[in-house]
Amino acid sequence: MTAAPLTDWHRLAADAVLLDGFHALKHAVRFGADVPVAVATDRAAALALADDLAPDVRDALAALLTEVPRATYTALVPRPHPTGVAALAVRPERAGQLAVLARLPRTAPVVVLDQPRNLGNAGAVIRLAAGFGATGVVTTGTLDPWHPTVVRAGAGLHFATAVERLEAAQLPAGPVFALDPEGDDLRDVTLPDDAVLAFGSERSGLSAELRARAGQLLSLPMRPQVSSYNLATSVAMTLYHWSATAR
Ligand SMILES: C[S@@+](CC[C@H](N)C(=O)[O-])C[C@H]1O[C@@H](n2cnc3c(N)ncnc32)[C@H](O)[C@@H]1O
Repeated sequence: MTAAPLTDWHRLAADAVLLDGFHALKHAVRFGADVPVAVATDRAAALALADDLAPDVRDALAALLTEVPRATYTALVPRPHPTGVAALAVRPERAGQLAVLARLPRTAPVVVLDQPRNLGNAGAVIRLAAGFGATGVVTTGTLDPWHPTVVRAGAGLHFATAVERLEAAQLPAGPVFALDPEGDDLRDVTLPDDAVLAFGSERSGLSAELRARAGQLLSLPMRPQVSSYNLATSVAMTLYHWSATAR
């Protein structure tokens, strides 16, 4: 690595979003992230992956990637990725993310994770939201939805949807449907495009505050002996239901 990219990395790392691995970088570039520095332990192998899997961003990756010795790469990342690729992206401004979440009329739901605890779940939900074209993912509570472990689990798809932390009292406008095993059967409901879909925490379910905001509690089909589903799978089923029944 020439000195300039390494200097850039150290200058930017504290405030930037770490893109860990080829797929995270591919998604971030594809969805318009500002990526000031990107490294690979084997640049030719990374570009061969791009030829195979992401020809649409191949030229952009070729312009970005600098080859570095493996020891340099492992010193830059907390946990080496099998593809030997890492990059830093500029975290989108909070004001811009909030504007996307607040924009009306809304053509796709906002997902709310009420005080989530598990970073991997949060990343999986952001990946789902990106895949279904949801407007965004809002978290309440202390978890940072831009934590590096969340970004890793989200495969760089934070840049394909709006992601912010908010107070429960500041949720975007729209009818709130809260998912809870005690609710009405989701299959009997058509979810509107401006729905705010709220899910409780892994440990204790929905907070009293979110329950109070909800216009309706909805349940996913589940046989009686099972207590609950995993948070991310609950979001997957609900977004699938929205996509399959949307008018
Ligand atoms: C792991 S569960 C929470 C379990 C928690 N022990 C509780 O008391 O609710 C996380 C979230 O997933 C959603 N969820 C899980 N199973 C569900 C079901 N059968 N119907 C509706 N929502 C469900 C809910 O939003 C729930 O708060």
